[in-house]
Amino acid sequence: MQLRDLQDRAVVVTGAGRGLGEAFATHLAQAGAAVVVNDVDEEMAWRTAENIRKHGGRAVASGHSVSDPAQAQAIVDLCVAEFGSIDGLVNNAGLNYEALPWQEEPDRVRELVEVNVLGVMYMGIAAVKAMIEQGRGGAIVNVSSGASLGQRKLGVYAASKGAVASLTYSWALDLEESGIRVNAICPLAHTRMVWKSERSLRGCPPDRTPSRIAPVVLFLLSDAAEGITGQLIRCNGPQLHIVGQPYLKAPILERQAWDAETVSRAFDEIFGAHLEPYGLEKRVPPRLRKWTEGTSTPLRSA
Ligand SMILES: NC(=O)c1ccc[n+]([C@@H]2O[C@H](COP(=O)([O-])OP(=O)(O)OC[C@H]3O[C@@H](n4cnc5c(N)ncnc54)[C@H](O)[C@@H]3O)[C@@H](O)[C@H]2O)c1
Repeated sequence: MQLRDLQDRAVVVTGAGRGLGEAFATHLAQAGAAVVVNDVDEEMAWRTAENIRKHGGRAVASGHSVSDPAQAQAIVDLCVAEFGSIDGLVNNAGLNYEALPWQEEPDRVRELVEVNVLGVMYMGIAAVKAMIEQGRGGAIVNVSSGASLGQRKLGVYAASKGAVASLTYSWALDLEESGIRVNAICPLAHTRMVWKSERSLRGCPPDRTPSRIAPVVLFLLSDAAEGITGQLIRCNGPQLHIVGQPYLKAPILERQAWDAETVSRAFDEIFGAHLEPYGLEKRVPPRLRKWTEGTSTPLRSA
């Protein structure tokens, strides 16, 4: 792949004042892209943009918040006004906190969903409209998370990243014919987000730096990724892989109508053996566990 792969492309990276977003913006600028460096922490956005310019790249800063639809539109408008087009969007801005369900506070829940879900939607909507108007396609990279598979103490965050995954698959379907590819990444890297949590820190080896994820984003935005859309891609240090998507699992039982009695029988007689291990940790549900672990009643053959 050529280093100047994104020459003549204009890209918006949200949440690019620090952490992963900063690494993405810098890497994309090095590959020739003109970058709108957005972060609600405006000073940090300015710092990243200034740093890119100092190294000969093209960048402007934006201090808008992605969680407000008018400001999201303003970020896209800034890209078109400064660089003449918008060819790529990296929907990276995000918030995270840990809480057990009974510790949740509605204001904090709302704030997270406004950034992680609505922000991604508002940015996507504004970018897609501009890309369709330009008529030469484009690429969106959303930032989901392995947490979307379900993780303890991260319910609201996990749900927000699950929403990002669903949005990615759905918009990829809607936009394939317009030549706009929509993919998502599940990164793991040392950033402020990880430093905040002892548990995350334990799960993140020191060599997991944001710059190790940036080439995946560059690839997904470039023409080298032609034909790749609707995918969730996980990058965790040395590992790079595609994340499987939920599907309708067989056996699919059919009868004219289901009542509580027949649903219960379906679980007793059939589904009991088909329950899914759940969450990122793949926990075996209790009803299945009794078959896989020692039970008080020994199994007897017929
Ligand atoms: N670090 C990881 O291991 C990891 C793992 C999975 C997913 N992610 C995701 O990667 C993305 C980047 O996270 P990070 O680890 O670099 O965290 P970070 O906290 O270092 O950076 C996030 C940036 O987003 C900005 N931001 C927050 N709200 C905003 C808003 N309304 N508008 C614009 N900018 C806003 C913040 O100011 C901050 O600079 C997030 O979406 C996060 O959920 C990170």
